[in-house]
Amino acid sequence: MEIIRSAGFNERRCIAREHMGLYGTVVTCATYSTLGLSVLSSGSLRSLLTSALKQCITEQPMLSTTILDAGTEAPKLAKVPAMAVTEHLSIFDMPAADTSSELAIRNLLHKAQNEQLELGKRPAWRLYAQALPIKSAAEPATFIAAFSYSHALADGPSGLFFHRALSDALEKCDGPTPDDGESFTVPSNIPPLAPALDRTVSFVISWSFLLRPLLNEFLPTWLATRLGVDTKDAAVWTGISVRPSLPDSGNLLPTELCFRQVSHSGLQRTVQTCRKHGARLTGLLTVVVARSLGQALRARGHDYGKLLVTLPINLRRCISDSQSVIANYPSAIEEIVTINSGLRAEERLVALGEEDWTTARHITESLGKASNTSQDHPIALLKYISNFREFVVHRATTPAEASFEISNIGVFDQAAGADTSSTAEQLKQFWTVTDVVFSQSANATGVPLNINVASVLKGPLSFTATWWPGMLGVEDEKRFVEEVLADVVDQLEQME
Ligand SMILES: *[C@@H]1O[C@H](CO)[C@@H](O)[C@H](O)[C@H]1NC(C)=O
Ligand SMILES: *[C@@H]1O[C@H](CO)[C@@H](O)[C@H](O)[C@H]1NC(C)=O
Repeated sequence: MEIIRSAGFNERRCIAREHMGLYGTVVTCATYSTLGLSVLSSGSLRSLLTSALKQCITEQPMLSTTILDAGTEAPKLAKVPAMAVTEHLSIFDMPAADTSSELAIRNLLHKAQNEQLELGKRPAWRLYAQALPIKSAAEPATFIAAFSYSHALADGPSGLFFHRALSDALEKCDGPTPDDGESFTVPSNIPPLAPALDRTVSFVISWSFLLRPLLNEFLPTWLATRLGVDTKDAAVWTGISVRPSLPDSGNLLPTELCFRQVSHSGLQRTVQTCRKHGARLTGLLTVVVARSLGQALRARGHDYGKLLVTLPINLRRCISDSQSVIANYPSAIEEIVTINSGLRAEERLVALGEEDWTTARHITESLGKASNTSQDHPIALLKYISNFREFVVHRATTPAEASFEISNIGVFDQAAGADTSSTAEQLKQFWTVTDVVFSQSANATGVPLNINVASVLKGPLSFTATWWPGMLGVEDEKRFVEEVLADVVDQLEQME
């Protein structure tokens, strides 16, 4: 085993959290289909993916990186010399013929989110795949593949880069090949692992930023106390007031999950409407989710005036040559959304008003600014933390400070990065990606509800909602979240 480097601050936070079972994995799931094959048995899917994954391992260093000493304050990253690809691949039998692809995706994601990766034993990722039933011979052969990975080494957008690599690798496989062995030697000349975030961005922190409230999350207690930071606002919904008890040692906290999609035409209309109002999709989604959540709470007798939203951002714009590098390069901003709509519990939401669009525009601007600067990122404060395990447990045993997180990893474009010198005929794809779904584990240190968003060029917009059961403070959690997502989908489908 070859030590690559010690883990950076943000990586250490993730490793501590994952090692204690307080966060599982990030999952990006893509649906692949082809008219070039008539059947896809579990066996042929296994050998097809085994050869494609070997190709990916030679291109993406994260896939052969393992995390050593995860239970200490000095974890290290190392490259394994060889790996058994079969240990990273779970193939499930085709579901019953009448199972919808939505249900199959939901079930696969639910499985992936509730299985822990064993840090240190092998590189921290796993691919869950399942062929889907086809109803007639004219339908393309289809499978879904959910890439589940440690957040320490890769963020949400990295999942899209993985699927681009997988899709390229599938193009290069000439149909299924025999399953050739348990141990794959990782070539010694693979590209180097991406550097840690804090070693590639020179963060700048201003005093005015440090004095802002809402920084509690990243401030060690001694610093927060010294600065007099006090964040609790009673008008903000933050789920249950006492978090559920932590999982027993060695176990992973459970993740519950709902999944819904907006049609491609609904998405197109929504994007056009956003453009007319000078906002972008994530800004609008924040408002739409906040309205739906506010209404679902009101229907249960909880009347809150505000929601505090966490929006992760991608810092790759501040890092040269990192545009499609698999790494963990996030930061986040927080925004207040007022949801005091004056509606009574039983009333339906009406069309978005001018204030809603003002909020959507404001969030759009904040996201644009924050992802284009190395100044004032809360994540830069992690360097003041001396003991990450203590920090993480402290966060996981104090109430949440925000209401929900909305994490949009954007649009998957299968052809992006394709060799443009190829002729149009050569670019014709054997495999087409038709759905891309993003999901992540419940977060014991985080907000009660995560809304995870992704889409594929020319395809639908996918939402998953994930949470730690017991965190939402309502009796019918699953129905509650289903109601919220259904309402979000309705608002977007009816967008004019
Ligand atoms: C990003 O920042 C640079 C200068 O710091 C500026 O020139 C550029 O216009 C900004 N881009 C966006 C999209 O805000
Ligand atoms: C988990 O929650 C904490 C606190 O809000 C946040 O800083 C962190 O980014 C969250 N992790 C993920 C993966 O969302």
